[in-house]
Amino acid sequence: MYQIEQLDWTGSYDTLVVGIGAADSIDSGFDALYGGRVKSLIQSGDVSTKTGEVTVLPTFEGETKRVCFVGLGQRNDLTTENMRNWFGKVAKQIKQRGWKDVAIALDTFTEGAARVFTEAYEMATYEHPTYKSTPKETTEAPSIRLLGEVTEADLTAGMAYGKGVNVARTLTMMPANILTAETLADYAVELAERHGFEYRILEKEEMEGLGMGALLAVNQGSTIPPKLIVLEYHGAGDEAPVAVVGKGVTFDTGGYSIKPKDGIVGMKGDMGGAATVLGLFETLGATKPAQNVIGVIGATDNMISGDAFKPDDVITAMNGKTIEVLNTDAEGRLVLADAVTFAKTYEPKAIIDVATLTGGVLVALGTDVTGCLTNDETLYHALESASRETNELVWQMPYFDVFINKVRKSEVADLNNSPGRFGHMIFGGAFVGEFVGDTPWLHLDIAGTSERAAASDLGPKGPTGVMVRTLARMIETWER
Ligand code: BES
Ligand code: MN
Ligand code: ZN
Repeated sequence: MYQIEQLDWTGSYDTLVVGIGAADSIDSGFDALYGGRVKSLIQSGDVSTKTGEVTVLPTFEGETKRVCFVGLGQRNDLTTENMRNWFGKVAKQIKQRGWKDVAIALDTFTEGAARVFTEAYEMATYEHPTYKSTPKETTEAPSIRLLGEVTEADLTAGMAYGKGVNVARTLTMMPANILTAETLADYAVELAERHGFEYRILEKEEMEGLGMGALLAVNQGSTIPPKLIVLEYHGAGDEAPVAVVGKGVTFDTGGYSIKPKDGIVGMKGDMGGAATVLGLFETLGATKPAQNVIGVIGATDNMISGDAFKPDDVITAMNGKTIEVLNTDAEGRLVLADAVTFAKTYEPKAIIDVATLTGGVLVALGTDVTGCLTNDETLYHALESASRETNELVWQMPYFDVFINKVRKSEVADLNNSPGRFGHMIFGGAFVGEFVGDTPWLHLDIAGTSERAAASDLGPKGPTGVMVRTLARMIETWER
């Protein structure tokens, strides 16, 4: 789909995408396409140089048919973040207008534009799959010429980041009658085989043997057996791996602490953390960074039946800790508890858990910022700097002893799974922290960011695939 060529203003392009800043001097070769009138087209307002505005105008002269102008404002507006969004707009135009032959004048933007364009193109042209009986007609992919210096690695990375995001979006969108623990595991196996990853799927019996009483308690009310999904990416010999652990609750009714009827709708997305892990592995398979990475997903639904776990139950996790269940809707932390303990058997150098864990993070940080907890400032700074590059915002919440002490407060067990309403995003993370120990750790609560209520320049409304790119970037740039 992509060709790499050199820009030639006298060349023959169907649609040529050009960045144009308010104070730019106009290249005479470019000006010739409009009979020397580009400046006056800007002055008359027929072409906009305003930040992120896209103007499409047929040329007056020469072989090239039309130019898609991208306004760069003052050139210092040309951040990676802006450029990604603008390329998202351009990508949507390519798709909507059905352009089949597009050329991007990369040098009119900024260094690194190729990688940003290919990432944005994947994300912005993505559509969620549907189950409509008359499927939408698929259109053939356009041919896109990247004009400038482009390395194969830039191309691969940009596309791989976008594709990883889209894998996570698709999985998160799938209804829970179709995406069960079983089919999620099948998908993981397919992904692993496609990329040549090692993998393991632990069945219920093996989980019982390992004493995963926390994850199994959540599964107790279900007719579908749980799965513990493990993927291994090897890029660094026998170095200690980074473990990325995802909450894979394929549907969360709340259990006996049942959700109100409006709160249940949408809970097919409660495996968003698992989707992030699988999306990340999709990316790793193509970018092949020099790291070892283990992905661990605890997969089950949280249902009600005569067998389901109940408030007041006391359960025992894989690491031997006992837990008083105060709320069966605080199930994600129970799933993560055993998944984290299992991840620790790989002696990872860091553990990162990702989960749609609490409504509390929505109240605290809204829908654009992922809430974090950490026991390691250096690790947090690495996340923060990757997140600045990907523009997936993160914010650290306090991990004080006052929270930990409340998680440890129970008359009958070592821990309780729900110390109360005030600060409950932090309790969720602090509970997981009880299973992490001294390993450097990041907790990412994506309950607010894993879905969007409206479309953006980079994709439709609904699942976002958040944190796939940030974790991929963090792993790619890890200081060893
Ligand atoms: N899956 C939910 C969290 C959630 C809420 C995700 C909204 C996406 C959107 C989680 O399992 C849950 O129910 N959390 C409870 C925790 C409480 C019982 C301590 C919550 O947030 O209310
Ligand atoms: Mn819940
Ligand atoms: Zn949940």
